[in-house]
Amino acid sequence: MTNADVYDVCKDLDFSKDIINFVHLNSTKVIFGPNCVRFVGNKAKEFNATKALIVTDSGILNAGHLDVVLESMNDSQVDCIVYSEVTENPSSYDVNNCATFAKSHSVDLILGLGGGSSLDTAKGANFIITNGGEMKDYRGIDKASNDMLPFFAIPTTAGTGSECQSFAIISDTETHEKMACGDKRAAARIAFLDPLLTTTQPFKITAQTGIDAISHSIESLVTKTKTDVSEKYSRLSFHLINRSFENVIKDPENINARSDMLLGAAYAGTAIECSMLGAAHAAANPMTAKFSIPHGVAVGIMLPHIIKYNSLDNEVADVYDSLIGQCLSERVVELLNIAKIKVRLGEYGITNNDLLSLSEAAATQWTGNFNPRRVSVDDFLELYKSAL
Ligand SMILES: [Fe+2]
Repeated sequence: MTNADVYDVCKDLDFSKDIINFVHLNSTKVIFGPNCVRFVGNKAKEFNATKALIVTDSGILNAGHLDVVLESMNDSQVDCIVYSEVTENPSSYDVNNCATFAKSHSVDLILGLGGGSSLDTAKGANFIITNGGEMKDYRGIDKASNDMLPFFAIPTTAGTGSECQSFAIISDTETHEKMACGDKRAAARIAFLDPLLTTTQPFKITAQTGIDAISHSIESLVTKTKTDVSEKYSRLSFHLINRSFENVIKDPENINARSDMLLGAAYAGTAIECSMLGAAHAAANPMTAKFSIPHGVAVGIMLPHIIKYNSLDNEVADVYDSLIGQCLSERVVELLNIAKIKVRLGEYGITNNDLLSLSEAAATQWTGNFNPRRVSVDDFLELYKSAL
């Protein structure tokens, strides 16, 4: 599949080439296609890079994806150092480790290679390497004062869409609270969307990250801060992921389906850049922090309940109805079944006694502020009860 094929795929849809080409991203150029990662060395050279920090995890090393990147960098005579200690849901401690590793090597380019955790760790380390301090100093938007190193994002999952965002999502080591740290200069200068890199994901990762990605389409579509442009990205994202999720689960090596998923996740990431997310993410974050439920699973469990809650607003209900020719919450439950995700909180060890503290934590989540309907502690309590 090439860019031209993507136009072809989308030709029956009402989306302009500007949307398909990600032209609304101010800081990030997106390169898409099988094997496009082989251009990474060439592009690094265009940025006059001499030594790059590659941030990744051991699974990516074992899958052989790092070798492809190193070969390309080597062909372009760009030295590399590799930090492969990335963990799931990276914390400020992890980011510090990565930055400390890099500081002794005078790097002039950062590459994130892996899932959202690798990309966010790389993005976070860029803040610390170039501006010092700690991750919590950059919580919010535009808190950095110095320029940052150029950053290339190479996602190997179709999930967070971090490759198209200027935010690093990092957990506070002490409180486990998720901190969103945003700065336009932290966004990837180039995102390489190579669907071949996503074919090696285990079933669980494909399933959970895919559910996260489609939840980004759905949540970003109706936020208080959505725009006409972000809405188009959300819709295109939903369309691609919705049509290919089942295919990618049944036939993991199907490159067209993998392409839809990877592009869909990136389009949702582009939408989030201005529209942000909503109450499903607010409800999910404490479930991950307190019960270690994977992010995509936690968001997926709560999403049908949030859709029903938001549908009490007629305008929001009309937007949901315009997305697909069936009840949206029912479609999400179908996708969760395909993903083999258990949908009751009780199946994850959560009891009635836990719901109040989860609700209190959910109500303090920044992301909840963008939900189209206000969600109080009592509302979260009802939402968790309905999912119990
Ligand atoms: Fe998410």
